[in-house]
Amino acid sequence: MRIFKNKTDLIAYVDTLKSDKKTIGFVPTMGALHEGHGSLISKGLSENDVMAVSIFVNPTQFDNQEDLVKYPRTLDSDVELLTTISEEKIIVYAPTVNDIYGDNVTSTSFFYDGLEHEMEGRFRHGHFDGVGTIVKRLFEIVRPDTAYFGEKDFQQLMIIKKLVEKHNIPVNIIGCKIHRAKDGLAMSSRNTRLKPEYREAAPFIFKTIKAAKEKFGTKSANYVTKWVTQQFAKHDLLDLEYFIIADIKTLKTVKRKSNKKAYRAFIAVYADDIRLIDNIALN
Ligand code: PAF
Repeated sequence: MRIFKNKTDLIAYVDTLKSDKKTIGFVPTMGALHEGHGSLISKGLSENDVMAVSIFVNPTQFDNQEDLVKYPRTLDSDVELLTTISEEKIIVYAPTVNDIYGDNVTSTSFFYDGLEHEMEGRFRHGHFDGVGTIVKRLFEIVRPDTAYFGEKDFQQLMIIKKLVEKHNIPVNIIGCKIHRAKDGLAMSSRNTRLKPEYREAAPFIFKTIKAAKEKFGTKSANYVTKWVTQQFAKHDLLDLEYFIIADIKTLKTVKRKSNKKAYRAFIAVYADDIRLIDNIALN
């Protein structure tokens, strides 16, 4: 497997792939790879000649320094996992902060038609500027034909689609279904940091949003939101940060349901100091 630590070498290698007319799929990650990443990479492998995977904990998308410091960094086991998926067809880009940002570790401001002000944007200040900055930069270096993103970060997926549209970036963006553990917990690199009692409690998140989906069939968004809030108020270990039912196009909270629109429920929960997010299609 080819592993690139600096962009100059990677850019030169991508030039050779492009002149050989190879198609490039891309999964950007922050490492601590799990089955969810594996499923994105496998999908990409079935649709492209080469799969590029970046492993980079991007400092500019963290509004919480402690979260950045504690974010798992497991490059050796990540590479091991990738080797089991495909030794020949995967290339890895694992840059340093300096390779990406030089001396200027800051993000650019992006306007995503207001999508950035909802949910994660409201609770994680500057997060989507950081995401836009790194993803745009990675797209410029890797120059993929297609990039794959998980729907667990549904708002991020919408924002990346908006980013490529607004900046005329020639990358096809594919959203992939949420990969869950057997007990329903959405796969996330942060799950590895959960203490056992919190890991045991965490499937309550999916169980509750699944029940919310049932209720949304007959009840108002307001009723369902109150019901979910009450379930978490009664829970000893999990703290609800937000539960929102939103229109999937605008990501704005639903005031009045319409059967012409598609809705999704979004949730963010603290399990101790670990922030977990999830979402579910409602109709
Ligand atoms: O979803 C993630 O892991 C990150 O936000 C991404 C897209 C790799 C950018 O750092």
